[in-house]
Amino acid sequence: MTLVKVAEISEIPSEQMKAVKLAEKEVLIANVNGVYYAIGNICTHQGVDLSKGTLEGITVTCPKHKSKFDVTTGKVISGPKIPLMHPKIKDEPTYVVKVEGKDILLEAQQSV
Ligand code: FES
Repeated sequence: MTLVKVAEISEIPSEQMKAVKLAEKEVLIANVNGVYYAIGNICTHQGVDLSKGTLEGITVTCPKHKSKFDVTTGKVISGPKIPLMHPKIKDEPTYVVKVEGKDILLEAQQSV
């Protein structure tokens, strides 16, 4: 398995998140109390950049229609908040994160 450096820990302080590139994929790395998690960065509803949203605990909220995803599992917590519509959306893929020294590494293959 190949590990790829995508960021340094100083770039993602506690309770912050950052979008990184892993080959052609966009990945969101979130720091939850010093533990790093990685899920897809593109909202599965309409393709918005999740890193522009908000992170509260393990929940990232999409900036456009407020869908919520669990950064530890990639699972949808709640769907888009659109009046009179309840579209189903997919979970985000997850990625294996490792920290070596000051480097944040991702496994080149997504885990789910
Ligand atoms: S684009 Fe993310 S909830 Fe609609």
